[in-house]
Amino acid sequence: MLAERMKNFSGSQTSGMRNRARKLRAEGIHVVNFAAGELDQDTSSSIKAAARKAIDSGRTQYTDTLGIAELRERVAQKVSQKTGIIYAADEVGFTAGAKQALFNANFVLFQPGDEVIIPSPYWVTLPEQVRLAGATPIALPTGQNGFQINIDELTRIITPKTRGIILNTPHNPTGVVYPADTLEKIAHLALKHDLVCIFDECYDELVYAPAAHHNIVKLVPEMKARTILVGSLSKSYCMAGWRAGFLAGPQKVIKAIANLQSHIASNPCNIVQYAALAAFESENDAFVAGNRKQLTIQRTTALQLIDKIPGLPCVVPDGAFYLFPDVSSLFNKSFKDQRVENVDRLAEMLLEHAHIAIVPGSAFGADNHIRISYAIPNEEIVAGLTRLGQFVQSLS
Ligand SMILES: Cc1ncc(COP(=O)(O)O)c(C=O)c1O
Repeated sequence: MLAERMKNFSGSQTSGMRNRARKLRAEGIHVVNFAAGELDQDTSSSIKAAARKAIDSGRTQYTDTLGIAELRERVAQKVSQKTGIIYAADEVGFTAGAKQALFNANFVLFQPGDEVIIPSPYWVTLPEQVRLAGATPIALPTGQNGFQINIDELTRIITPKTRGIILNTPHNPTGVVYPADTLEKIAHLALKHDLVCIFDECYDELVYAPAAHHNIVKLVPEMKARTILVGSLSKSYCMAGWRAGFLAGPQKVIKAIANLQSHIASNPCNIVQYAALAAFESENDAFVAGNRKQLTIQRTTALQLIDKIPGLPCVVPDGAFYLFPDVSSLFNKSFKDQRVENVDRLAEMLLEHAHIAIVPGSAFGADNHIRISYAIPNEEIVAGLTRLGQFVQSLS
């Protein structure tokens, strides 16, 4: 019954674990939820007030496909500030989350026969969206290199079919932040080989000193003509459920995306657009800074505790809010009579026996790892990682 393209196509595993944890909680079990991809924090009151006002003042009609003019102007301003290069309103668009921005970009840029390079591990959705566009995702392994991109390896996998590269920094699931010199080298490769770059910087506000986020267009301005920048309000503004994201790129690409979007979902929610305008007001800078400060504390707690668990080496994450430890030392050990066969089984056992929800690295192309989100209250981190430590100790 289903179309060919849906064969071997499955839903996001990150949502799957979240749902199972929610179900156990509904049964009254205290589950520590390390599987969430968002902050455990409410949207700021000024953003909520702007949405209420939008409803009360009748902002209930369709809008322009990529957002009301005022918001596009504001997004253009924001992207211009990020890059140090002027972006006009018709070079940006507002979308129902960064996920939709990424899908639209993939769909208008790539086609069957194209290869698109994605550093691996990768956020679960990236290769699936490339496949949905009919193109072939090509993984660039980074595991041997502390999850950083090795430029020689990248150069080696570029073929005449390579059409683009999708970069995500700060990175989900590893938390790494790509340094400026890596991005510069990638940019020069993109220019040399005529590649487009989708640059997902959804976590750009969540970077921990002394690390710093770098934008590829800011570093190499010629990249503006071949880069789609993608941003999100989900993480730093705690607006995941509102579905608010944006993109910026060459006018021709943005126009094609508007055409595509017009036939799929028309416009992003009118009310959310007014909420986004409020989010971008300077009064919310303190809200974002407060979230970052809170996450800095949670990150320290999480790192200290994971460090104490023997056999779970973990790269220190400079951004986002995830730990991505290597759990392969647990494979083939047993809990009572149950064997840890692989990371998926480990995830099930952790939920069942330790009541902690994590996302198995298999969802990100990394079968030896688990993803632990530390964007939860400090006491939950302590409870959950203590349970993880006890579970690891109980294995024989
Ligand atoms: C790397 C990355 N890109 C994009 C997104 C999608 O964000 P949004 O909620 O804006 O769709 C996520 C969400 O987890 C993400 O981790």
